[in-house]
Amino acid sequence: MTALRSPSRTPDDISISARKVNFDLKQALATDWADNDPFVTAIFNAMSISFPSGEKNFIDSVRTYEKQINDEKLLKDIKGFYKQEGIHSREHRKYNKTLCEQRGYNLQELEGVYLRRIKTAKSNPRVTNKVLLASTVAVEHFTASFGETFLEGRILKNVEGPIGDLWRWHALEELEHKSVAFDVYSQIGGSYKLRKTIMRIAMVTLLKDSLTVALKMLRHDKQLWKWHTFKSLTKLLFFKDGFVRLHATAYKDFFREDFHPWDSDNRALLVYWQQKLEPIMAAA
Ligand SMILES: [Fe+2]
Ligand SMILES: [Fe+2]
Repeated sequence: MTALRSPSRTPDDISISARKVNFDLKQALATDWADNDPFVTAIFNAMSISFPSGEKNFIDSVRTYEKQINDEKLLKDIKGFYKQEGIHSREHRKYNKTLCEQRGYNLQELEGVYLRRIKTAKSNPRVTNKVLLASTVAVEHFTASFGETFLEGRILKNVEGPIGDLWRWHALEELEHKSVAFDVYSQIGGSYKLRKTIMRIAMVTLLKDSLTVALKMLRHDKQLWKWHTFKSLTKLLFFKDGFVRLHATAYKDFFREDFHPWDSDNRALLVYWQQKLEPIMAAA
């Protein structure tokens, strides 16, 4: 008899487990820590603002379907995914609080941009549990491809110290659990058509909301109407080595019907960073 293949396609040598971390970010967050560029710093900080509410939603959207999963390996991956995202949320909540204290931003106002988006989506009757899971699948693909370019040093080459460690730790774990939501979605019969549609909507709204939050920060810092801000924004949107074009291939890949997150096998990159970051990470 042939053994049934597990619906979990996370490679067997990848362990999705939470780690104990502690980052002292006070000094870095008071500065334009990302390439000494106010715009790039604001974009990263805006992403951090999105994480606590976003990652809670990722967990909730998977939890809705957990009871329908009976494969032991996938259930283990799901538990690891909850733990990792739970700790990411916690660390980014601390990050966001410190950031706002250091720079005088209004945390409620900034978080409000993302919270309103979630509230509006959830009050729309067309946004079913399956749509919420599809949006987790889409954003998880984005965080994994972003994590990959970041760990490869293709964006922000020289971020040292605790702030660099935090973003690398988060990127590493995003890659480790990159297919959990996808595998759950496949297992519960999520369609290809919905996955494609939601990806388009999710990326436009995520980019729009993150730019809105970043621009609020820049306005507060009196950096909004500066030439270097315009230059960095143009680079992000249109340049070959800008944020958007760096992720274009990964974005297009997602639209293949037979796409799976582990088609891109980045285990060698993970092993490299697991070893490099070991001194700052302990098992939780
Ligand atoms: Fe995360
Ligand atoms: Fe994630």
